[in-house]
Amino acid sequence: MIQLKDVYKSFGSKKVLQGFTLDVREGETMVIIGYSGTGKSVAIKHIVRLLEPDAGEVWVDGQNVNTLSRAELSALRAKVGYVFQFAALFDSMSIGDNVAMGLRKQGQLSDSEIRQRVVESLRLVDLPDVESRFPAELSGGMRKRVGIARAIALRPKYILYDEPTTGLDPVTSAVIDGLMIRMRDQLGVTGVVITHDMRSAYAVGTRIAMLYDGTVRQVGSVDEIRHSHDAVVRQFIEGKATLDDDDAPLLSAGR
Ligand SMILES: Nc1ncnc2c1ncn2[C@@H]1O[C@H](COP(=O)(O)OP(=O)(O)OP(=O)(O)O)[C@@H](O)[C@H]1O
Ligand SMILES: [Mg+2]
Repeated sequence: MIQLKDVYKSFGSKKVLQGFTLDVREGETMVIIGYSGTGKSVAIKHIVRLLEPDAGEVWVDGQNVNTLSRAELSALRAKVGYVFQFAALFDSMSIGDNVAMGLRKQGQLSDSEIRQRVVESLRLVDLPDVESRFPAELSGGMRKRVGIARAIALRPKYILYDEPTTGLDPVTSAVIDGLMIRMRDQLGVTGVVITHDMRSAYAVGTRIAMLYDGTVRQVGSVDEIRHSHDAVVRQFIEGKATLDDDDAPLLSAGR
């Protein structure tokens, strides 16, 4: 179980998280939605201590993440896969080496075991023959899938996906959604998915949380969010632009 408890985080004078609380239960996929720049990536970086809270606590499987020793932190990062928002592959390394990287760092498997794990992981994301190719030779969607393969190669208990479908066409997005569902249902992976894409949120989510103004505005099942009566949540999920009075003259001037 992952728990963020009343987390506060600012950068200089910019307040990002202001009492962010969220539980992620075993086996579920928690989707985090919210406007760009509201702190979704910042929130999940706390789970693997890429960021530390100014106040509040982060717990994973009963351990307070911010009091872990270096060795305990490595163990934590081995069980929490992280699929970065921008695939973050190393351009000078082959796809196979990119996927193998975390396993080599762990130093627990032999070379042949690593190779086997790499092949298996790429097959799981439907990219069987790309091991010897380089990131620049792949499409954006393929690179995103390599990012997922790299995370699952470690056989993590948890996977954090930061906008896995953003910028992809609907068909490729659906493939990635299917993959995240398979991770949960076949491998029992507990997931956290950040997305702006409501179609994807409804497809993969067990529950959905909306981040707004530094806190969780609402968290609930897919149906509860879909039928939310909260005006802020409704506006986001319906994708309507706000037209305040300042915008009105601009619009009429354009006609
Ligand atoms: N390391 C950092 N140093 C300073 N400011 C940061 C840092 N990381 C994030 N921020 C700021 O925190 C705010 C939240 O950023 P974050 O990346 O979490 O947004 P987001 O909700 O993930 O947005 P998007 O949907 O565009 O990815 C932004 O204003 C961003 O500029
Ligand atoms: Mg982000």
